[in-house]
Parts: sequence; structure tokens; C-alpha cells
Amino acid sequence: MSATTMADILRVENLVVHFDTTEGRIHAVNGVSLSLEPGEVLGIVGESGSGKSVTMMSLLGLIPQPPGKIESGRALFDATNGQGVVDLLALDRPALRAIRGKHIGFIFQDPISSLNPTMNIGRQIAESLMKHLGLGEGEARKRTVELLNHVGIADAARHYDSYPHEFSGGMRQRVMIAIAVACRPKLVIADEPTTALDVTVQAQIMDLVRRLQRELDMAVIWISHDLGVVAGLADRVAVMYGGTIVECAQVDQLFDRPQHPYTAGLLGAVPSLLETNGVEERPLVSIEGSPPDLLEELNCCPFADRCSYVFARCWQERPALLSVGPQHAVACFYDMSAEANRSQ
Ligand SMILES: Nc1ncnc2c1ncn2[C@@H]1O[C@H](COP(=O)(O)OP(=O)(O)O)[C@@H](O)[C@H]1O
Ligand SMILES: [Mg+2]
Repeated sequence: MSATTMADILRVENLVVHFDTTEGRIHAVNGVSLSLEPGEVLGIVGESGSGKSVTMMSLLGLIPQPPGKIESGRALFDATNGQGVVDLLALDRPALRAIRGKHIGFIFQDPISSLNPTMNIGRQIAESLMKHLGLGEGEARKRTVELLNHVGIADAARHYDSYPHEFSGGMRQRVMIAIAVACRPKLVIADEPTTALDVTVQAQIMDLVRRLQRELDMAVIWISHDLGVVAGLADRVAVMYGGTIVECAQVDQLFDRPQHPYTAGLLGAVPSLLETNGVEERPLVSIEGSPPDLLEELNCCPFADRCSYVFARCWQERPALLSVGPQHAVACFYDMSAEANRSQ
């Protein structure tokens, strides 16, 4: 496949992942497809347990196998111009390790468990530069200090020798971001990177990622359970539910005209109010009922038992994610747009 080229930097097709546990098989990811253009920011939102992390960990080769198993799917990634396309799911461990950190940066929720507690932070960044870019020790140190400055760590030369525990949560996350962007990757995956931080620091980290994304022209996948966070960052948003993507659209489109009852529920919208006035005023509401039992294999709509628009077909087959307009796809048998038009 190496000669193939594609316009997307990443194209995930029909990813299916399960875990075999003592309680039975957990169907964590049930046919996720998504794509990302170079330089684009894709937000992925969904409740806890909807399969966001498992999807991303699968791409990075970080699923523990067993108990996990990537049942099927492809994840075509265009590493760098000219090198052609690889299927991340088909690569062996060394090949993935070479891509991870170099061509795909990643930032997780909990930097303390991702950073090595026994190594000073300068060294942790410098090692990545030496490993992936072949820099010598002096050059890597110089670049590391620049990077620390760049991610907003004041007095970087002094902090080079600090250990992770000497830093606040926000500072540690800045270090993780420095590591993630050190090799100027074309794709960064950020999995709830601000969830553990207080609101002020959260905003600073979001600003930092947004600035770096523009400066380095990176594509970013930003995962959050908070639609508000994603709205401020993303060009496009994918909504996950029960291990599938139920809707994906440009951010304005998603907020103004949600087409899936679950998205509408998340937004606190009712169909007759689909013509709304913007993003800021929308309260997030909780939806009655509980998420689907992932121990059961999904052959109906995963949202059927919580949906106010449910009808017979929703219980009989699983809706596919289909295009309903430019850059807008939805997995639902009910036509919300028809309803919105009728009520105008
Ligand atoms: N190592 C694992 N072993 C068993 N089940 C797992 C494992 N990792 C994730 N899961 C299950 O997969 C489902 C999806 O999890 P996850 O992707 O972490 O959700 P999210 O990131 O959306 O909160 C959950 O039911 C979770 O319990
Ligand atoms: Mg998660």
C-alpha cells in the first residue's frame, strides 16, 4: 500500500475492538469510521465508556492484547509527504513505536502516569528528540529548552533538571505537550488532556494547543466528554455513543442543526428549537436512562432505549453512519431535519 496517496492524513474504516473479560465480551468499539484532513481539528465527544479512548489507543497500538482484540478495521495514516500510506492496525510493534511520538504525538489525561517519575523532564524530552530525530546530546538539550519555553514553561533552562513531581498538574501537561510536539508530528491525539485540571488552567492548555496547532499546522484529534470544550477548539465534531459514531459534522452545523436525537439531547435542544442562537448559551443536560450494556452485541440502534423518537426499525437493525449533507453524517433512521422543516 506504500505507493497509495490520499487527501486525508488519517482514515479509520470500520474499527471493531472488544475485550474478553471474566464477565464476558465487552464490545467497546463497534465499527468506527472517521477521517481527518491535514491541519484539521476533530473533536470527539461522548459519555464515559463510549469507546473514545479505546478507539485512539487502538490506533496507537496501545491496547493490551489480550484481553483486548482488534477484530477488524483499517487505519490508514499518511505519515509524511512522499512516504505513502500505512495501515496503523497492520504494523508490527517496532514500526508503530517509530511512528508514535515522531509522526503522531499524543497527550493523555493523566501526565503523571505518562511521565517517568525518576527522570528529569528535560531528559525525557531530549530522549525523544535523540531517538526519533537522531539529534546529538547537546543539540537535543538546546532544542528541549526551546521547546519548554515554547510551551510556556518560564525559566526553562533551570526547569530542565526538575522532576515531574515538582511540577503542578498544568505544568506537567505542558511538558506532555512539549513531548507530543517535539518532533513536529502531523497528527496529535489528545485524550481528555484538560479533564483533571481546574478551569483556568484548562483554558490555558486549550489556548496552548490551539496556538501550536496553527504554528505547526498539525491535525489534532481532541477527545472530551464536554461538548463545550470541543466546541471551542474543533473544526468538526464526532459524537460517540456505545462504541459507534452517531453523528459527525462541522462544529457550527452540529450545534445549529443536530440530526441525531442523542446529539440534540446533549445540546439540550428540542427539534422545534433547532434554529438556535449560538453556542455559548446552550446548557448541557443529562439524558435520562443509562448507556448501552456493552456486554451485548449491538444489532439495533445503541440509543434506542433512551430515544424519544424510537420506532420499530430502530430495534431491528443498526443504523449506518450516512451522509446527510456536506461534511455531515448521522446514524439514525428518524429524519430530524424533516421535523425541523415542518415546525418552521
Ligand atoms: N483493558 C480493558 N479491559 C476491559 N475492558 C476495557 C479495557 N479498556 C477499556 N475497556 C472497556 O471499553 C469500554 C470503552 O472504554 P473507553 O474507550 O475507555 O471509554 P471512554 O474513553 O469513552 O470513556 C468501556 O466499557 C471499558 O470498560
Ligand atoms: Mg477515555
